[in-house]
Amino acid sequence: TDYTLTVDPSGRGPSIDDSMYGIFYEDINRAADGGLYAELVQNRSFEYDRADNASYTPLTSWATATAGSAAAEVVDDDGRLGERNRRYLRVALDGPDAGVRLTNSGYNSGVAVQAGQRYDFSVWARTDRAAGTPLTVSLDDASGALAEPLDVKVESDRWTRYTGTLTASRTSTEGRLTVSAGGSGTLRLDMVSLFPENTYKNRPNGMREDLARKIAALKPGFLRFPGGCLVNTGSHEAYEAPDWERSRSYQWKDTIGPVEERATNANFWGYNQSYGLGYYEYFQFAEDIGAMPVPVVPALVTGCGQNRATDDPELLRRHIQDTLDLIEFANGPRTSTWGAKRAAMGHPKPFGLTHLAVGNEENLPDEFLARFTQFRDAIEERYPDITVISNSGPDDTGAVFDRAWELNRAAGVAMVDEHYYNNPSWFLENNDRYDSYDREGPKVFLGEYASRDNRFRNALAEAAFMTGLERNADIVKMASYAPLLANEDYVQWQPDMIWFDNHRSWGSANYEMQKLFMNNVGDRVVPSEASGTPAAEAGITGAVGLSTWATSASYDDVSVTSAHGRTLLRDDFSGTDSQWTRAAGRGSWQIQDGAFVQSDTTAEDTMVTAGDPRWQNYDLRVRATKKSG
Ligand code: AHR
Repeated sequence: TDYTLTVDPSGRGPSIDDSMYGIFYEDINRAADGGLYAELVQNRSFEYDRADNASYTPLTSWATATAGSAAAEVVDDDGRLGERNRRYLRVALDGPDAGVRLTNSGYNSGVAVQAGQRYDFSVWARTDRAAGTPLTVSLDDASGALAEPLDVKVESDRWTRYTGTLTASRTSTEGRLTVSAGGSGTLRLDMVSLFPENTYKNRPNGMREDLARKIAALKPGFLRFPGGCLVNTGSHEAYEAPDWERSRSYQWKDTIGPVEERATNANFWGYNQSYGLGYYEYFQFAEDIGAMPVPVVPALVTGCGQNRATDDPELLRRHIQDTLDLIEFANGPRTSTWGAKRAAMGHPKPFGLTHLAVGNEENLPDEFLARFTQFRDAIEERYPDITVISNSGPDDTGAVFDRAWELNRAAGVAMVDEHYYNNPSWFLENNDRYDSYDREGPKVFLGEYASRDNRFRNALAEAAFMTGLERNADIVKMASYAPLLANEDYVQWQPDMIWFDNHRSWGSANYEMQKLFMNNVGDRVVPSEASGTPAAEAGITGAVGLSTWATSASYDDVSVTSAHGRTLLRDDFSGTDSQWTRAAGRGSWQIQDGAFVQSDTTAEDTMVTAGDPRWQNYDLRVRATKKSG
């Protein structure tokens, strides 16, 4: 087909903000504990509960072994470490032969350690034995010791934090951390923790380096956090201790201050969240990666399948006040109540919050807007420079969407958060979605979108769609793919941008594509016009990919090349990583260290070879050089 593209380099299209492309981080797929949050001990404060997940007990991921007349149990009594960290392990050591071994199995296959790396151990403990209680801390796997054991002596009956360092002598992904004690008296333990000494930017209580680096490599313009459905759900519930812990209501105030004083809570996605990665850490991380922080607070109208609005003026008042306090926490002087808490945590300077979203995917637009405007009015009265972001519900179109937009427009909302998850063909067909949006109305924040898979064709369809976002950069001000992270052994939602286990992480094809756009944000749109119809308009119908027959064992070199000879994807298997075999059976495209992986072993349409008719529209060539012999 004849196709002419006319570009006018002197023409001035809309300018594109540096914050155009960002990331949406939600604690879904165990993105925080066992993921971005570098803590290696699972259920470190014995707070796992059936209310979080039917399979949990307070000893989930722990094994206890006692000798002689020792007994160990998790209790919640007056001896607790704090009002929000209620449970602890009480060990009764009643005789000279009494002993206990407490072993944690970490996340995925275990505690992952690397030879030569240092790991910071800490525990809160107390003992009523006058002579103190010696603890031995060891790290082992099935092949034996992974580090020289550490001796720690618990010396008083007041809760105290004891620390030490373990240096790994071997690399292992199946480590177990064991704390052993003997003697007599009552020993109490809580917050048993092991942290790699190296965290991203060496922040204490910080982020896992490989994941944080992958995120930073995107050069995100903003960080939307902490959800998602995680944010709203449960916000209508009462907030009285100790019930808050199990309410699923995400309260930002629960997530700051010393980690041992933070509550833990049921996560909307069906597990426990420790809040070790909390609001301070999110703001700090945003600053570390040069991203504008965009927190999302609950609007007291619950979407995410639970359509319900709160009619409790006192609860609404409290949430509005909490939001004002959040702004003070981020931006207030160190002399202010909440600014002082930020300063005490190590950041006297304000974080420079400019945008904040109220609500996520509410399905009841009238109820939502009625509450949203109360939040907005209170915020604008006190902080007129903050942009308060509204939303349009969970869909890309339909009655709720239309009504939400109508109300948002009528209320003169500054920016509306849209979300959609669709097939790749939808993304190809909707490149012009924003061409017709009202230029006088609210701006758009595309806070969540993805085509439904992690294959190359999905990334390609999203890329095509993003050219439409960019062309409309005067109205579409921010956009973020969703979700960002997934631990491959605890998946609630896919596709996801970055995948990981307890020691590896790999970006999907969608990640590589986002990186391309995010690292090359233009200054302005250059007007262009097209005549004719490109052949690919019919959409990508066949899978673009190679199946797992392309493994390092049988091939020297695999590449996908365009008709113009440009190499789009290539792996010459020179890397040391075993990513090809690693990904087998996971059903997604993954890119690691610049190499691509198609891991779908089942779908027949992934068996694409050169000459396959499904490739012809795209003129892509696959070249796979077989190993001799
Ligand atoms: O990104 C996953 C979920 O999708 C988010 O929590 C929610 O906002 C949307 O429905």
